[in-house]
Amino acid sequence: MINLSNLAELSKDCKLCPLAEQGRTQVVFGDGNPDADIMFVGEGPGFYEDRQGKPFVGAAGKLLTQLLESIGLTREDVYITNVVKCRPPQNRDPKPEEIEICTNEYLFTQIKEIKPKIIATLGRFASAVILERKDVSMGRVHGQKFKKDDYLVVPIYHPAAALHSRTNLGPLSEDFNKLREYLGEKTEVSQGSREPEVEIEQMGLF
Ligand code: URA
Repeated sequence: MINLSNLAELSKDCKLCPLAEQGRTQVVFGDGNPDADIMFVGEGPGFYEDRQGKPFVGAAGKLLTQLLESIGLTREDVYITNVVKCRPPQNRDPKPEEIEICTNEYLFTQIKEIKPKIIATLGRFASAVILERKDVSMGRVHGQKFKKDDYLVVPIYHPAAALHSRTNLGPLSEDFNKLREYLGEKTEVSQGSREPEVEIEQMGLF
């Protein structure tokens, strides 16, 4: 039976997609509490993550840690991972083939094992993958909750966006306040969210 720790072990030698041969130092599987109520999903490891083998340890990661603390959480309370587990060369966007292989092999199993109440998707890229859309407009969807399978998806701005422009820090902090609010509502949500996916389409959010 596959569980989170033996999947992490298996991932170390992964050669399933072309990223294995494109300069990665190591596979960055994920980090944090395997029983977390909330899981954060970013795009893919960057330079520092590739070196250290942990997600979100660079500048964006430091901001993520501060934002977690601002809502009373530590990194040990949550689980953090990425859509793809290997650093794409020059931090380019992961390709569809890489995403498909990596999510089927790792991310979807991580979600099944962790069973989070909430998946917070960091930025446009991860949000589109988890919501299974071609593209999403972060301006429209950020901070909202979308029911999917047994969990809620909450797209939030990527912390790197606030590093590029300080004006994004306010909306990002608000997104974290929403996460705190939704975590507090978890019992109500599990008894039936009022946000079915059809409603998302009707609202023209994407
Ligand atoms: N950006 C991401 O999307 N993921 C990381 O792990 C680091 C930066």
